[in-house]
Amino acid sequence: MLPVSILFVCLGNICRSPMAEGIFLKILTREGMLDRFVIDSAGLLDYHEGELADTRMRSHAIRRGYNLLHRSRPVVKSDFERFDWIICMDDQNIRGLKQLTSNPVHLSKIHLMTSFSVEMKASFVPDPYNGGDQGFEHVIDLLEDACEGLFKEVRDKR
Ligand code: 4NP
Repeated sequence: MLPVSILFVCLGNICRSPMAEGIFLKILTREGMLDRFVIDSAGLLDYHEGELADTRMRSHAIRRGYNLLHRSRPVVKSDFERFDWIICMDDQNIRGLKQLTSNPVHLSKIHLMTSFSVEMKASFVPDPYNGGDQGFEHVIDLLEDACEGLFKEVRDKR
């Protein structure tokens, strides 16, 4: 069976989407399903291309058991072909992606991360970049919850 491919997208690809990638990879490890998925993340901006995730995001992540190794890269048009699921953090991300394609098949792959939330009620994952520690913790809380929901959805649709 072909692997299921998921791309997490945010603005800078140094806070939210690499965190989502790290959380999803840990769920796959726990479930023994790493070999059945291709997971990546990317940003609408290329300002941080090649950089590891933001130091603050990495230090909050490591305390919660996630070692983020991803290096920032911008979204490219071929991502719409390569990935089955494209998961965005907020509506601004969705608008940015819609500027890169009008192909209905590509557009049908785009989903909002919080549409998979299980316990937590939120309509988007807020950008923590200009905020404090609590913002980073809140991002991890939201993403841990929504990644569990996304995992169940994707697993059941395979
Ligand atoms: P992210 O946060 O989208 O969660 O990675 C941001 C990081 C950097 C910038 C914006 C958002 N920036 O403008 O540099």
